[in-house]
Amino acid sequence: MSRIVIVSNRTPGKGPAAGGLAVALRKVLGEREGFWFGWSGKLTEQPARAARIEDIDGLEVAQIDLTREDHHAYYAGFSNSILWPSFHLRLDLATIESHWYEGYRRVNQQFARALLPLLKPDDIIWVHDYHLIPLASELRQLGARNRIGFYLHIPFPTADALYAIPHHEELMRDLSRYDLVGMQAKRDVSAFTEFAEHQAPSTFGGHKVQAIDFSRTEIEAFPIGSDPDAFARLSISPAATKMVHRMKRALGDQRLILGVDRLDYSKGLPQRIEAYEKLLANNSRMRRSVHMLQVAPPSRDSIKEYQETSDTLDAICGRVMGHFAEPDWQPLTYVKRAYGQPSLAGLYRMARVGLVTPLRDGMNLVAHEFVGAQDPDDPGALVLSRFAGAAEIFPEALLVNPFDTDETAEALRMALDMPLDERKERWQALMAAARKYNVDDWAVSFLARLAPGTLEKSSTRDV
Ligand code: G6P
Repeated sequence: MSRIVIVSNRTPGKGPAAGGLAVALRKVLGEREGFWFGWSGKLTEQPARAARIEDIDGLEVAQIDLTREDHHAYYAGFSNSILWPSFHLRLDLATIESHWYEGYRRVNQQFARALLPLLKPDDIIWVHDYHLIPLASELRQLGARNRIGFYLHIPFPTADALYAIPHHEELMRDLSRYDLVGMQAKRDVSAFTEFAEHQAPSTFGGHKVQAIDFSRTEIEAFPIGSDPDAFARLSISPAATKMVHRMKRALGDQRLILGVDRLDYSKGLPQRIEAYEKLLANNSRMRRSVHMLQVAPPSRDSIKEYQETSDTLDAICGRVMGHFAEPDWQPLTYVKRAYGQPSLAGLYRMARVGLVTPLRDGMNLVAHEFVGAQDPDDPGALVLSRFAGAAEIFPEALLVNPFDTDETAEALRMALDMPLDERKERWQALMAAARKYNVDDWAVSFLARLAPGTLEKSSTRDV
């Protein structure tokens, strides 16, 4: 059986793996031979020549260090100040410093050079996310003939946003060097196909650019999921139950509205708090009977746009508190800290409403995990952005336009007033979808498509 090689910017750390994705991919590597390759998290003076191989909790992980300069251009620069905002259709928040592209390319070359000596000819390589779009090109240039797949965890942009990215033609050409490109949602595949079908030979920088040949690359939606039954078990574990008790003591019979997101402008956090503000303003009966908890661990905080989002959020939360809080009642708790999966599972379980309103999102696994953690006898309601990939999976959620804070406020009211029967009915459909699109099948179906016949089992999931 072929080995599986997973490549991503971040590698799984020691201790219990945090996210569902890391757990699923660990499982893939636990069942088959293979290893994980990525950045070590260390910054050095000199570029690394070779990867260090380590056993991390039984998983073989090969890692390279990067220089501070390269890492800055590759990660904070090209990946997170150009690709991330553009792919999320936030060109207003992009910083187009085209020289970062050189660092991005250089790091992808370093990844390729360090990975190549570790490869066997029939290894199947699975590359993850926007940091590593050029990796297949770089590996192929060094002679690798392996099957190489790419999975984009974030949305694929519309053509206009794509054209704003420096060197976008090269990046698209890089994608054509993969055997399989997986995306989260049908909308992403449509955006990609639109580009692939309508691109015409053009002149670029004085040179004639040839249309890119995508005929050897399969493009398909593989919506990622979670392990909802594991989340269900976790939500009644001792650690989760402890959190539930703590919250019950603090809240009494107030109903909890819960948001959990990385502190990122794509998550629509200011709009979300504004929608909550409108709920309180329009429905005075809700005051003292609801409480909103927003958990938002800081992310990419070396980047100005992230600091600004954080400041905006501080201001809005302060405004809501100042306006609605009373000496003995607070409308809102805002926590800028990360919590472990067991505590989150407890919070999800006791929330009456899961509020997941990104302005644009690849999938959004919080929505999946929230569904998994609900009490089947008294489930909470999910208010979900129609611009999250998850909206294609969960039509039974209350779908909202997150830019329209009146609509979100009204959906919140409906969720809070929703009778138990309707909550149960909707949740059963949501849970069935979360089970159908579980993360194990996601990994298996991607790999089966990438390397048909060379792996043991193939997925029957239709996507
Ligand atoms: C998103 C991306 C991932 C990334 C994660 C955390 O989910 O799709 O590739 O790892 O955010 O962001 P960070 O910049 O901290 O790795």
